[in-house]
Amino acid sequence: SLFSCTSCMQSLTMAKPVVYIEYLKEIEKARRDLRALISIRNCAPLMLRLAWHDAGTYDVKTRTGGPNGSIRNAQELNHSANKGLQKAVEFCEEVKAKHPKVSYADLYQLAGVVAVEVTGGPTIHFIPGRKDSMESPPEGRLPDAKQGAPHLREVFYRMGLTDKDIVVLSGGHTLGKAHMERSGFDGQWTRDPLKFDNSYFVELLKADSKDLLKLPTDKALVEDPKFRQYVELYATDEDAFFEDYAASHKKLSELGFNFK
Ligand code: HEM
Repeated sequence: SLFSCTSCMQSLTMAKPVVYIEYLKEIEKARRDLRALISIRNCAPLMLRLAWHDAGTYDVKTRTGGPNGSIRNAQELNHSANKGLQKAVEFCEEVKAKHPKVSYADLYQLAGVVAVEVTGGPTIHFIPGRKDSMESPPEGRLPDAKQGAPHLREVFYRMGLTDKDIVVLSGGHTLGKAHMERSGFDGQWTRDPLKFDNSYFVELLKADSKDLLKLPTDKALVEDPKFRQYVELYATDEDAFFEDYAASHKKLSELGFNFK
């Protein structure tokens, strides 16, 4: 298989040469540092959001955007969808300083994978080798929480993702909360926002969880019959949720990544 070393840009076509093996070792060290950092800073939800917002700009037609580390570019970080993520970029900088060979693109995606893992979610297979870019996509590629099912489909289909991906990845809202000063929304989706489980879907199907947050885009998942099938499955079967989540998260983290 064809690998590229993100630090020297060398194309590594011969099995796995020393350069790539050294890189893998750095990735494993960065993974351990991220575990510690996420527990010390208590920032698993923010790290998951960072990974998603770096990746979620992907456009399958023009092959622009995606998990390429461009979110660290001030221009992109200042997009209104990214309010609050400066802190996550700064946290990652602490790990980057210790492992400078690890690309930002890999670091942010690894942070997302570790955030899910340390909060009790599924293990997500991680392939390193993403290249960094400072070319930011135009503003407006990430979903708008005030809209409904057609908008969700438009945005996720643009990334090359499916209805199932939309629903299962929305389960990321099992972690964290919305902040008035960031998004204009307030509140958390689940009773235990630092535990990765299927409670997002359980709460979504309850009519009476009034103190919990439901964005218009969350409500769209129960109102659209095709989306709802998946919501019902994941609310009753956490194993199915974990299995499908791990597969879709991996897909999200590898958008435009073509050397597997
Ligand atoms: C937070 C929208 C999908 C993970 C938020 C917030 C909004 C939002 C408005 C609140 C931000 C704040 O005020 O701090 C959406 C919309 C989506 C979507 C419209 C379309 C489906 C996803 C996906 C993931 C994700 C796919 C990950 C797989 C998170 C996390 C937080 C969050 C973990 C909490 C961040 C924190 O606690 O600081 N999202 N999101 N979201 N989102 Fe999403």
